[in-house]
Amino acid sequence: MSVAWTRSNQGVTCVAPWLCGGGRSSDIPWLDALKDVSASSLSIESLTKDFAGLRAVDDVSLTVQPGEILGLIGPNGSGKTTTINLMTGLLNITSGHVRLGETNMTGWPPHTISKHGLARTFQMVRLFKEFTVRENVEVAAIAATGASRREAAAIARDALNRMEIEHLQEIRASILPQGEERRVEIARALATRPKYLLLDEPGAGLNDAEIERFVPTLQRIRAEVGCGILIVDHDMRLIMNLCDRLHVLNYGRTIAEGSPEVVRNEPLVIEAYLGSEAVA
Ligand SMILES: Nc1ncnc2c1ncn2[C@@H]1O[C@H](COP(=O)(O)OP(=O)(O)OP(=O)(O)O)[C@@H](O)[C@H]1O
Ligand SMILES: [Mg+2]
Repeated sequence: MSVAWTRSNQGVTCVAPWLCGGGRSSDIPWLDALKDVSASSLSIESLTKDFAGLRAVDDVSLTVQPGEILGLIGPNGSGKTTTINLMTGLLNITSGHVRLGETNMTGWPPHTISKHGLARTFQMVRLFKEFTVRENVEVAAIAATGASRREAAAIARDALNRMEIEHLQEIRASILPQGEERRVEIARALATRPKYLLLDEPGAGLNDAEIERFVPTLQRIRAEVGCGILIVDHDMRLIMNLCDRLHVLNYGRTIAEGSPEVVRNEPLVIEAYLGSEAVA
């Protein structure tokens, strides 16, 4: 996590210009782009997850609107990945609900949730290492949409194009650099024809130039595909430039939500990242 605030005699001062002055690089009229996807919002209500002796997610509620990019942020161990795992059926929910529009998806298995339009990527990239890039994406299309091999090839081509990695399609996944692996993972998610993309640290391991390239790629996907995006990341340049709204967790609980401009000045958020001295 990059340090974005520092303490001086004048109080807390921002030391990262991209975080303090920048904001979003452009206002995309994302609501206008929603032609083909459902207008259902994705929401969690009072979501809670207990691991033995530890409440990892504690009464968290949030909504992602169609076509919206929501950043889910918080310090290490604050419950971000667990929240995505609960939303996508990878973990059993202790209490609370996950809904897509009026549809209650609570307790559904991952493949059913995927078929209803939720696609996710993993903090630790999970590709079939012995498959080519194209095969990795085709398999996802077949599994999620029931496409034929021929249809899957077309879907994969489209997804790889959108992620600007069509030139890598015959490369074996095992030899991809990390930045390209992240793009293949998102192409795989896109090949499932998602209404919502849930991205767990897509910026992890990427260098500055790759992060910079990522922002317009994801903005274009939102505009062209019309899907909503819930993104978890520690790179504040990526988050602040990309997201319409932020939701902040600490120790499994919501501590702030709102626009990037509001959230970055929220004392509880500054304290969570930098410690109580930062706001004293
Ligand atoms: N399967 C599990 N069993 C027990 N505890 C778990 C399990 N998965 C996560 N935890 C714990 O739940 C808490 C939240 O973990 P989680 O992975 O959701 O955090 P995170 O916000 O994604 O953190 P990071 O930014 O480091 O990825 C942590 O204390 C973690 O150790
Ligand atoms: Mg995580």
